[in-house]
Amino acid sequence: MSKLDEKIGFIGGGNMAFAIGSGLIRCGIVKPLQVMVSGPHIENLARWRDIGVATTDDNNEVLELANIVFICVKPHILGDCVAQLKCKHVPSAKDAKKLFVSVLAGTTLDDLEEKFSFMEEPKVIRTMPNTSMQVGEGCTVYTGNERVTPQELAKVHLILNSLGLAQQVPESMINAATAVAGCGPAFVYTIIEAMADGGVKQGLPRAMALKFAAQTLLGAAKTVLLTEKHPAVLRDEVCSPGGATIVGVHELEKGNLRSTLINAVEKSSQRAAELGKK
Ligand SMILES: NC(=O)c1ccc[n+]([C@@H]2O[C@H](COP(=O)([O-])OP(=O)(O)OC[C@H]3O[C@@H](n4cnc5c(N)ncnc54)[C@H](OP(=O)(O)O)[C@@H]3O)[C@@H](O)[C@H]2O)c1
Repeated sequence: MSKLDEKIGFIGGGNMAFAIGSGLIRCGIVKPLQVMVSGPHIENLARWRDIGVATTDDNNEVLELANIVFICVKPHILGDCVAQLKCKHVPSAKDAKKLFVSVLAGTTLDDLEEKFSFMEEPKVIRTMPNTSMQVGEGCTVYTGNERVTPQELAKVHLILNSLGLAQQVPESMINAATAVAGCGPAFVYTIIEAMADGGVKQGLPRAMALKFAAQTLLGAAKTVLLTEKHPAVLRDEVCSPGGATIVGVHELEKGNLRSTLINAVEKSSQRAAELGKK
């Protein structure tokens, strides 16, 4: 049995939308028949049809059908996309109940309210998810405008939290969270690849090195979450005096790994803010 009765729609069916939609179906929160997705090129939505989801090249079909409408286009497309919706939309009593859930980097609640004002007093929720939702280990922050009731926010929390960790935060924190959680998987993939390259250099077969690097990151991440110990304490526990780990840690310090990651988060956070202003 599905845990949510609502019809869920996705306007834009790319990577982020698919990570959420396919994840929700896989974990049984909704059935494929409750979901619809739209995009301009129907041929690009084949993977949705493969999992039993209805697809359309008309965004208005999704707007009419769904109670919870995920907006999953690139930020610079939003204006055109809303203009199309506004043109064809026929107002109805159901409008007042619709929730618009944006995943757009940088796009503020004020921007969203203004764009969806053709729906009259729109209920909008700004989220920042990440693609790890596709494997049920996402990390999503969200915040809603004042028209979203606590019950509606709880429903969105249920959806997002079923695909990993979801947390409500003040909007002022979303760009920083975008950098850590939204962009973070790309940073971590780079670390995994580089650690595997190190293993290959030392004689491990590539596939084995990649598996070891990825599992090591998974294990370290889980240890931080479950023990709630500070990462520096956990690192000290691995570094025995005069041992193999501390010489590696010294190399990381020489290569400014920590400073580089701090800079990466700072730049990504600034860029997220810029994207919303364009
Ligand atoms: N990827 C991430 O890790 C990530 C993380 C957090 C947030 N986000 C946010 O997620 C959003 C989507 O990113 P993405 O990575 O999923 O990009 P993506 O894979 O390129 O998906 C964007 C989708 O929008 C569709 N589209 C283009 N114009 C449209 C229109 N007028 N109406 C409806 N759909 C339209 C595209 O369809 P066609 O391909 O057929 O043109 C494409 O499927 C962005 O706003 C981004 O900030 C992404």
